[in-house]
Amino acid sequence: MNILANDGISASGKKALEAAGFSVSTDTVAQEELIHHINTNNITVLLVRSATTVRQNLIDACPSLKIIGRGGVGMDNIDVAYAREKGLKVINTPAASSTSVAELVFGSLFGVARSLHLSNRAMPTQGAAEFKTLKKAYAKGIELRGKTLGIIGFGRIGQELAKYALGCGMKVVFHTHNCDSIIIPLYVEGYGTVEVELKNQPLENVISTSDFISVHVPAQADGSAVLGAKEIALMKDGVIVANTARGGSIDETALLEGLNNGKIAGAVIDVFVGEPKPQDAILNHPKISLTPHIGAATGEAQDRIGVELADQIKAELLVNS
Ligand code: 3PG
Repeated sequence: MNILANDGISASGKKALEAAGFSVSTDTVAQEELIHHINTNNITVLLVRSATTVRQNLIDACPSLKIIGRGGVGMDNIDVAYAREKGLKVINTPAASSTSVAELVFGSLFGVARSLHLSNRAMPTQGAAEFKTLKKAYAKGIELRGKTLGIIGFGRIGQELAKYALGCGMKVVFHTHNCDSIIIPLYVEGYGTVEVELKNQPLENVISTSDFISVHVPAQADGSAVLGAKEIALMKDGVIVANTARGGSIDETALLEGLNNGKIAGAVIDVFVGEPKPQDAILNHPKISLTPHIGAATGEAQDRIGVELADQIKAELLVNS
């Protein structure tokens, strides 16, 4: 059986699939040629990340497809309900990348708090001639320890983020739709696990009491933002916000306004409206730490994703055949 991993798959995932007898191609086929390619190559499994979209027209036009696999969490690029209605199996790997996303958020928050994103740009060109000027420019750093992190959306990634925050001495508040409280297990090597119970709070409380706010909700069906101008107005002055969820989960226009009027001191943005062509105003804003949608892009996460996809495909196509 033929598998097309159109946005790639880890070597470990490919190996596991090939060892089970599948033929795996990791050639990226352009979106407009995908239907033709799937049909001429008799593809049974189409694997994607966020770059390739799988809409109704493709599902209808490709009768050889049995499985659509998303190597990652968000399935907003796939018409999941329609595919399932048509009898296709749609799979993803919701747990595999939580640690990687949480670490990117923390790395970037630490970076923005100390202006590392600016300093790293300025030092190569101005570091020798203007060392003292740069030292002064980047001297207004802040610490994360003792501050409050607000987490909007408290699924696997949000909870993983909470572990890092608690581990470095932050207070954590969260808002989600589906629970009253959640126990966060904190493992300390040599000491065992300490359990910390956190209570779900109204969104307004989280927004208005946090020094740092990170969004971890799926793309909204209507494309609306979770944090827009109304929510930003409720935030503390000097807040730092992070969006590693989906482009526009923090409204980009409201974000730019908040950054420009000083309400928001800094932002971490890994996901963008209009990917893969983010707007210039976001890309060139000095208060934003930018990364190109790399939350899940670690070797460890991609290995787990590849192996997990392979296991699910084998279970579906070999065990059930
Ligand atoms: C996800 O939903 O898993 C992340 O946004 C990662 O997307 P990617 O697989 O395109 O890096």
